[in-house]
Amino acid sequence: MSSTQDAIASAEAHSAHNYHPLPVVVSSADGAWMTDVEGRRYLDMLAGYSALNFGHGNRRLIEAAKAQLERVTLTSRAFHHDRFADFCERLAQLCGMEMVLPMNTGAEAVETAVKTARKWGYRVKGVPDGMAKIIVAANNFHGRTTTIISFSTDPEARADHGPYTPGFEIVPYGDLTAMEEAMTENTVAVLLEPIQGEAGVLVPPPGYLPAVRELTRRRDVLFIADEIQSGLGRTGRTFACEHEGVVPDMYLLGKALGGGVVPVSAVVSSAAVLGVHRPGEHGSTFGGNPLACAVALEVVAMLRTGEYQQRAAELGDHLHHELGLMVGGGAVEAVRGRGLWAGVDVVPALGTGREISERLMERGVLVKDTHGSTIRIAPPLVISKEDLDWGLEQLRQVLR
Ligand SMILES: Cc1ncc(COP(=O)(O)O)c(C=O)c1O
Repeated sequence: MSSTQDAIASAEAHSAHNYHPLPVVVSSADGAWMTDVEGRRYLDMLAGYSALNFGHGNRRLIEAAKAQLERVTLTSRAFHHDRFADFCERLAQLCGMEMVLPMNTGAEAVETAVKTARKWGYRVKGVPDGMAKIIVAANNFHGRTTTIISFSTDPEARADHGPYTPGFEIVPYGDLTAMEEAMTENTVAVLLEPIQGEAGVLVPPPGYLPAVRELTRRRDVLFIADEIQSGLGRTGRTFACEHEGVVPDMYLLGKALGGGVVPVSAVVSSAAVLGVHRPGEHGSTFGGNPLACAVALEVVAMLRTGEYQQRAAELGDHLHHELGLMVGGGAVEAVRGRGLWAGVDVVPALGTGREISERLMERGVLVKDTHGSTIRIAPPLVISKEDLDWGLEQLRQVLR
């Protein structure tokens, strides 16, 4: 057996089958490229679901991590450490907000937002105890905890994980009337992805996010934008909300905040909202640790220059132009997205998203399918135009 087959057989035998990875075994990576255990190279057009916006092995991020590894990596929040305040201050500044509550994974940031919004509802808005409601959108993806899958509409994510957490109302994405009808005096928050990633890179109708902003402001409801996948440069702006001129009450960040090096997530908001937490009411041993802060500080510094956002915008225009030319030619039904992020609906007769992904893999391009015959494209923002064009050419060949 090849080393690839050995590694896959061993993983199948010794790990839970909660994923169905493509049959490639990566052993190293650099920039937008990955190399497998047999020396084959692949263009990474997924970028760890946007966790690798700055590319694999980004020198600035690796150097920041290495330097911090030699100093101090973990204190817990029982003590202060000397990277924490800088990280919180600069991330809050980048977001135009006042306070940060750092966690580790995206799901933890979402959980933290749910707890914060409920607490704000009881302590500030005056909602009766136990009555707080949060409005979410159908086809959302916010993570995998028991509470989060309680408000998922994906049967696969929910099956056999009950009993589920109550307190959520699900409305169709993009439907303002439905949201308004679902809203009561006990509604504390609306939680939305400004672009739904896992659902197939769904961009809401123009005007929807500003209307949600106006409605939530009028009804004294928090607008929580889950920018864990859409944020930090991916769409050509720091936040996807910016495309519609919207500033939410809370940003949820994760993935690229840790530069693909360490898991770092955060809730970023005003002092009026995050100020509801008191010592002992919420926390995490690793949240805001020195290593995480050192890497994320460098991520924030890189985003402050605007160069990654600009690159994503320019290369994104090119990507969407090229993908647009494929629509209607018998192979591609529709393309959606913004910046260096696209959902491509392949004509089902040509194969499932999985089959298309496998054919692309054989040609040296790694992407991930989502529902049905949709594949998503989200290369690292550092990809060169030549490499992007090469990847697109492989897609054309596969769809021919
Ligand atoms: C929008 C969004 N929110 C939350 C999450 C959960 O993040 P994590 O997998 O780090 O828990 C994801 C992951 O894909 C996501 O796309």
